[in-house]
Amino acid sequence: MSLAARYDTALMRTFGSPQRVLVRGDGCHVWDADGRRYLDLLGGLAVNALGHAHPQVVEAVTTQLGTLGHVSNFFASPPQIALAERLLSLLGSTGRVFFANSGTEANEAALKATRRTGRTKLVSTKGAFHGRSMGALAITWKPAYREPFEPLPGEIVFVDYGDVDALAAAVDDETAAFVVEPIQGENGVIDAPAGYLNEAREITKRAGALLWIDEIQTGMGRVGDWFAHAETGIVPDLVTVAKGLGAGFPIGACIGLDTAGDLLGPGDHGTTFGGNPVAAAAALATIDVIEGTGLLEHTVVAGEHLAARLDKARGVDHVRGRGLLRGIALDDPIAPTVAGAALEAGFIVNAPNPTTLRLAPPLVVSLDQLDTFVDALPELLDQAELSGTYGAQARHVPDNSPIS
Ligand SMILES: Cc1ncc(COP(=O)(O)O)c(C=O)c1O
Repeated sequence: MSLAARYDTALMRTFGSPQRVLVRGDGCHVWDADGRRYLDLLGGLAVNALGHAHPQVVEAVTTQLGTLGHVSNFFASPPQIALAERLLSLLGSTGRVFFANSGTEANEAALKATRRTGRTKLVSTKGAFHGRSMGALAITWKPAYREPFEPLPGEIVFVDYGDVDALAAAVDDETAAFVVEPIQGENGVIDAPAGYLNEAREITKRAGALLWIDEIQTGMGRVGDWFAHAETGIVPDLVTVAKGLGAGFPIGACIGLDTAGDLLGPGDHGTTFGGNPVAAAAALATIDVIEGTGLLEHTVVAGEHLAARLDKARGVDHVRGRGLLRGIALDDPIAPTVAGAALEAGFIVNAPNPTTLRLAPPLVVSLDQLDTFVDALPELLDQAELSGTYGAQARHVPDNSPIS
């Protein structure tokens, strides 16, 4: 039996059939079980910040595993402490960190922290994606994800993303927090309008509510800054990160800034693996490489190069996003078919909705590598137009939904 057939027999069907079985990665390339090579322009959904098998991460993980692989949370470890300090320093604030193993779990910790305000109402945004556990799902917008699992916890109000007046009307003195992504990645890489997060900071402060920024997709250098909200100068109360934090090693963090770091106290929350020394060592190595090799600057340059070239491409309406998190808005609703054609041609991208292609390549991607995709795009669009609106990739994932 092929590996794909064995997958279909043994794995739960939550993700549909896999597009390929991947066996190896090196830098920005991965190889499938048949030996075909792909340029990975999705980076494991904005995770593989340093590409695949980065020697410094491999070294850090190997050394830490050979030194001390796991301790319970009855004990601490040097990498865990150093990583907490490093994250706070990148955020330029005092506070406290809770480590988890994924974005969803980081958000669950933040959700519990919001309950410690004594209020239960949360304001989230239409189009938001915050994860699939019952709590994270409650603040996620997409009805197709939420409705089959209702009742979900909490009292959640969804407002239009980017609408300051709607936000001001929704946040009141019963609101525990407003949770928001600086760019809605899963919704198709939708940028927040300029000034939105600053207004959100003012509105939440006036109401005595927390401002919780979900940087799980946008954080850790993805947009060419450590955090997408950094350019606004605001200090949120809660920041959640994961994805690129461990560059492929599972780790997430809920960061409470200033006094929000004290919302969760002894006994309020827990985890067996969160703060694992190997995961923390992977994250520290990732931050070292980003800092030591000027990757934030490279991400800005590479992202602007990509957007400038794509903006002029035939079949492209406009390009959204920042740094190396980009949504390519196509003229026609053929994105799933284009993503399928791209895979056949050796490029991994995805289609978060019918008109958008998403690119979130490793931050180490070269301008030449990005150019190979831009050069191939007209041909991929032609192939997609020829093969009709919904092609192979759309059939794999029923509503072409993000599968993170
Ligand atoms: C903004 C945001 N929040 C939360 C999550 C959930 O993270 P995870 O899949 O690691 O649980 C994601 C995943 O795509 C995300 O993009």
